[in-house]
Amino acid sequence: MADKQHHGRSCCCCLWGMLWKILVTLIVLVGIVVLIFWLVVQPRSFKFYVTEAELTQFDYHTNNNTLHYNMVLNFTSRNPNKKLSIYYDKVEALAFYEDARFGNYDVITHMNSFRQYKKTSSPMSAVFSGHRVLPLNNDQVSKLNQDKTVGAYDIYVKLYFRIRFRLGDSISRHLKPKVKCDIKVPFTKNATFTMFHTTKCHVHF
Ligand SMILES: *[C@@H]1O[C@H](CO)[C@@H](O)[C@H](O)[C@H]1NC(C)=O
Ligand SMILES: *[C@@H]1O[C@H](CO)[C@@H](O)[C@H](O)[C@H]1NC(C)=O
Ligand SMILES: *[C@@H]1O[C@H](CO)[C@@H](O)[C@H](O)[C@H]1NC(C)=O
Repeated sequence: MADKQHHGRSCCCCLWGMLWKILVTLIVLVGIVVLIFWLVVQPRSFKFYVTEAELTQFDYHTNNNTLHYNMVLNFTSRNPNKKLSIYYDKVEALAFYEDARFGNYDVITHMNSFRQYKKTSSPMSAVFSGHRVLPLNNDQVSKLNQDKTVGAYDIYVKLYFRIRFRLGDSISRHLKPKVKCDIKVPFTKNATFTMFHTTKCHVHF
């Protein structure tokens, strides 16, 4: 009885040993395939910049806690890849001042989604205009007055992307990178003349 049990266990062991070897071989093979794919395709993220900013209204009224705003941003998105093209299916932009969101804009929808070929750049733009109740505290209001004196506002823009990569005829699943831009936007009464400096944004996958 004891002998039989022992025999059964050793057979089980050699089966496990074999499976283990197959598994290790598979992992190594997959690793090599992934490495070759990476070396040949060299997949890279897109690069994103705010190229122009036009702020013609940014008035906060403390009596009703309302911000009246009007801001136009121009962006450039660059695909640095040598082998991949990018489908921009959806992009939504949110604008914040002092952590408070004041505006949002659909930059890319199904109406203007597009394919960006390798090694090219594409313009995009966002228009934030209207008014919103923004409960700013005293510190935030004094920061706003400070920005007003300087003549430039520290604005934070967050963009939610929905993209796909294309290699030859195969298209990836949807990816949802987020882009964060910290920009300093000069206030411009005269909209034809701005002093905005192109700002690179952070892209997170
Ligand atoms: C808030 O108050 C300001 C100044 O009193 C006024 O100009 C503005 O229209 C008000 N905003 C709203 C949304 O009522
Ligand atoms: C921003 O983009 C819009 C639309 O592409 C364009 O008409 C406008 O001239 C651009 N503004 C600046 C300041 O480049
Ligand atoms: C805007 O500013 C530019 C440069 O300072 C000036 O040439 C132009 O006449 C101004 N336009 C208006 C409408 O004030």
